[in-house]
Amino acid sequence: MSILSGISNFFGLDIGTTAIRLVELQGNYPKTLVKYAYVPIDPKLALSDAKGDQIKLAQIVLDLCNQAKMTTKNVVVGLPTRRLFTTVVDLDKVSPRELEKTIMFQADSLIPTPISESTIDWAILGDSPKDSSKIEVLLSSVSNKYVEDKLDALESVGLNVIAFEPENLAILRSLISPGLKSTVLVLDVGSLGTDLIISVNDVPKLTRSIAIGTQAIIKAAAQNLNIENDQAQQFVFKFGLDPTKLDGQLDRAIHGTLESLITEIEKSISFFETRFQGSKVSKIIVTGGASLIPNFPNTIANSFGVDVEVGNAWHNVSFPESRQNELLAVANQFSVAVGLAGRNE
Ligand SMILES: Nc1ncnc2c1ncn2[C@@H]1O[C@H](COP(=O)(O)OP(=O)(O)OP(=O)(O)O)[C@@H](O)[C@H]1O
Ligand SMILES: [Mg+2]
Repeated sequence: MSILSGISNFFGLDIGTTAIRLVELQGNYPKTLVKYAYVPIDPKLALSDAKGDQIKLAQIVLDLCNQAKMTTKNVVVGLPTRRLFTTVVDLDKVSPRELEKTIMFQADSLIPTPISESTIDWAILGDSPKDSSKIEVLLSSVSNKYVEDKLDALESVGLNVIAFEPENLAILRSLISPGLKSTVLVLDVGSLGTDLIISVNDVPKLTRSIAIGTQAIIKAAAQNLNIENDQAQQFVFKFGLDPTKLDGQLDRAIHGTLESLITEIEKSISFFETRFQGSKVSKIIVTGGASLIPNFPNTIANSFGVDVEVGNAWHNVSFPESRQNELLAVANQFSVAVGLAGRNE
């Protein structure tokens, strides 16, 4: 064990709806890649809260960890945004200890679930943009039961959970350069939903989840073209949003779902730009499964007239040149696991 940092090595664990992903890094910024691994899983298993299923899932994590020869059983686990309640509140400027009291005292009115059943965490973002006598605090809460069940399952197979971290914070750590001075919107468009984060100078100022992901897009294609889901998925990832392909039929079939997603993103952008007068989103970074749908990132960016980029999970990681191609092939699905692995414990 290291004396200076407590726990010297650990890996990041992303239990996604469609896959489990592990990443281990070492050293200081930019951390070096040690190992990474992933295995597809049955979404039913991933989404189940049943104890037996959670243990099965933990066993898959352990098997993958052994197979990949991870150097440690210490793990930092991602908390899915849809399981978290997150809000930004303005509170009186007080000492950190007083702040804790203030938050606990007001928690009932700040979070939707009973305090006795929730774990609350917070980070000071800076002065409130509305009232300079106040500070702005990012507040997250999660149900104790959700965290305890995950912890019990993972520890029951011999893994050692050293921390949980919201996935949206992990994503920022992997995709954004530390110290970046600009306002960026990050979209992780996964299987069931989209996580949205607006970050100013690498600090998250707004985060939410939207219940539209690749499954909704595939379902729209299947229904409107009257084809099976599997074929719809192939079409979506082969042709994407291109009106010149398939006589524009696929493009039209998924247009409505895309519009709904864009409307939700738009609401978040206007909420943000109203609160932070003068701030403008200058770039959109897209990650997750949907970033591979042809023309998807562009379509989103064109709706808002800003630059778009497909996020590279390995952006802040150093690795041998010879592994470049292999790593870039999975760069859109590792942002959560890499971010968790990039924590400084
Ligand atoms: N090349 C591809 N061909 C077909 N489908 C793909 C391709 N790449 C990704 N997908 C689809 O994208 C989805 C997975 O996206 P992603 O990996 O972001 O989800 P996840 O992290 O497992 O889920 P979540 O983050 O929502 O819990 C799946 O529905 C998968 O089938
Ligand atoms: Mg995901």
